[in-house]
Amino acid sequence: MKVALVSDLHANHQAAKVVFDRITEMDVDRTICLGDVVGYGSSPNEVCQLVRSHCDLTIVGNHDAAVAGLMDYSYYYQAARDALDWTVSVMDDEHIAWLRTLPYTAKAGSACFSHGSPVYPESFEYVFNQALARAHCAFHDRLQDVTFMGHTHLTRSWRFDQTTAEDVPPGPIEFESGWKYLVTVGSVGQPRDYDPRACFVIYDTERNEAEYIRVPYDIDSAAAGIRAAGLSEHFARRLYRGV
Ligand SMILES: [Fe+2]
Repeated sequence: MKVALVSDLHANHQAAKVVFDRITEMDVDRTICLGDVVGYGSSPNEVCQLVRSHCDLTIVGNHDAAVAGLMDYSYYYQAARDALDWTVSVMDDEHIAWLRTLPYTAKAGSACFSHGSPVYPESFEYVFNQALARAHCAFHDRLQDVTFMGHTHLTRSWRFDQTTAEDVPPGPIEFESGWKYLVTVGSVGQPRDYDPRACFVIYDTERNEAEYIRVPYDIDSAAAGIRAAGLSEHFARRLYRGV
């Protein structure tokens, strides 16, 4: 079975459209969204609609939880708070109601799907380096063979056992027996790994492999939308640099 994994679309309609078009061409069996459908970008309703029509399963992200009223975001920095307030003000009630229904994690076969760390998914903890990956050794026995995550907007992976964690080199991942894996799937709508192209992952359960796919999209148009909505200029500029 081929599974497409998308995450952190962040209301970027232009990026989401090209990614879902590519996934449709690839003829996958399932498409799973790992959260942060909204926040930062100017098209929350359009991106909710795309995710709802293309994804078989959607996990809640911290921005989704904030917009849905499930999480206090008063401690976020000002521009992020303003973007969330703006998102709530323009979103259709029906899409907000949908966000409220989303699970914090899901499991299928030997895989787990989560926005941040799967250990305490409601805390949305970041996993972005080897030390944070190593903290999962203590939870080795209760974690699935592979956990796919979003949240960091990075494209990094680690393998771990009960005692140690190692970086997995960039590129396609071949899952080996004897290890469990944490895989961050990158971001569709706001990549932060210095590659501004939209990113998603194809997980092939028969071959036991995962591969990152990058797709260029119309960044000018996404940035213009952010400016027209009066959101932070920083959110527009960072799209060009992939940070
Ligand atoms: Fe995010």
